[in-house]
Amino acid sequence: MTGKGNSLKKEIFKKIKRYYELYHKKKEFIPGKSKVHYAGRVYDSREMAAMVNAVLDFWLTLGKENADFERDFAKYLGVRNILLVNSGSSANLLAVASLKSDMLKNRLKAGDEVITCALNFPSTVSAIVQNNLIPVFVDVELDTYNIDVSQLKRALSKKTRAIFITHTMGNPCNMEKIASFTKEHKLFLIEDVCDALGGKFSGRKLGSFGDISTYSFYPAHHITMGEGGALATNNLSIYRAALSLRDWGRACFCRYNEKKTLGACNNRFGLKFKNLPFGYDHKYIYTHIGYNLKPLDIQAAMGKEQLKKLPRFLRQRAQNFNFLLKALRDYESYLFFPDKYKNAEPAWFCFPIMVKKNSFIKRNDFQQYLERNNIETRMIFAGNILRQPAFHNIRCKVIGNLKNTDYIMNNAFFIGVYPGLGREHLNYIVKKVKDYFKALNIS
Ligand SMILES: Cc1ncc(COP(=O)(O)O)c(C=O)c1O
Repeated sequence: MTGKGNSLKKEIFKKIKRYYELYHKKKEFIPGKSKVHYAGRVYDSREMAAMVNAVLDFWLTLGKENADFERDFAKYLGVRNILLVNSGSSANLLAVASLKSDMLKNRLKAGDEVITCALNFPSTVSAIVQNNLIPVFVDVELDTYNIDVSQLKRALSKKTRAIFITHTMGNPCNMEKIASFTKEHKLFLIEDVCDALGGKFSGRKLGSFGDISTYSFYPAHHITMGEGGALATNNLSIYRAALSLRDWGRACFCRYNEKKTLGACNNRFGLKFKNLPFGYDHKYIYTHIGYNLKPLDIQAAMGKEQLKKLPRFLRQRAQNFNFLLKALRDYESYLFFPDKYKNAEPAWFCFPIMVKKNSFIKRNDFQQYLERNNIETRMIFAGNILRQPAFHNIRCKVIGNLKNTDYIMNNAFFIGVYPGLGREHLNYIVKKVKDYFKALNIS
């Protein structure tokens, strides 16, 4: 870059900062008028400048920004290999598909069983179904909303090969039990960490327990790239299988700007594959029936800036969650707030509220009251996934009656705790909840 180019860039970044301050900086909150969002993008001019910088370079497809993000994210998680993808759903799809790759000696085969829970996000379960594997559904615990580990033994069969867990709403699953169960029965473990980036169990980061973990960078999550996701694994064969599946199924695993690392082949024109002419360009040899699930380098540039903010975001999420919990405790006879394991450090995605049994409060009535007052609410994702139209006729196994999953589907919802909410938003939420109970003659 010439001196002129650099000084032009400097001028552009200065203008971006000014633009951010004029048009994006925190807007005034007007109680009752402004929306209290359940989630949202939290950023400043640094994300905007990083993205513009990537646009000015005009590389566009995955390159330097991706390499930097993957390096920083791997360091943060303490996991060796990161693969950036275009969504958390894509990360889930690749996680399961890579376990079927013949690059793995003990790969999964069609018809093998994968234990998961029925209270789930759709694309976590879809990934199992789309790969011709059989999901085996167990119930969740009412207090943590997470997979009920006491049902794992009943779910086990000769065909069980993997467990796919979700750390629901940022609350860590019982990793002690799950890790020892998967070890004892030689199962693969996939962790869906899309809602729980930064959470820990026994001091260890979520996503570092399993063979593979997945992340989403949709704006609702702990950091964002607009759209985006990642897959993390310590297993080099899984990483290479996922890389190939992400990139059209191609054989070559040399990465951008990398020469000898990760055993890059560095041998584009000197390889021999069965049925192919000698020296056929390795970049045009396909070893998987793949996809194209790549994001843009511009997204990675944003992710790099967001990752720097993650520790602050996590602190703010925890503070907001604890504030609501303390302020709403008075209504615990009617409403249930989630519990966590002693060893768990949640990275709260949201503040779940469940109407208690025999309470005369109706979830729909309460939820709609909050929405009418401009407090956004959301459901616990798909609820009981088997009740969703697309999943009625899937091949699956169900353990027990899923009564907690159904209870949550009928009685729970959530509101936000994301870092875009300050005390003014939280005080407003608390006041509106108090008003609701006051109107019912409960104070
Ligand atoms: C638990 C969970 N898994 C997977 C996903 C899918 O992520 P994406 O929206 O990036 O596809 C989500 C999305 O919110 C999620 O909450």
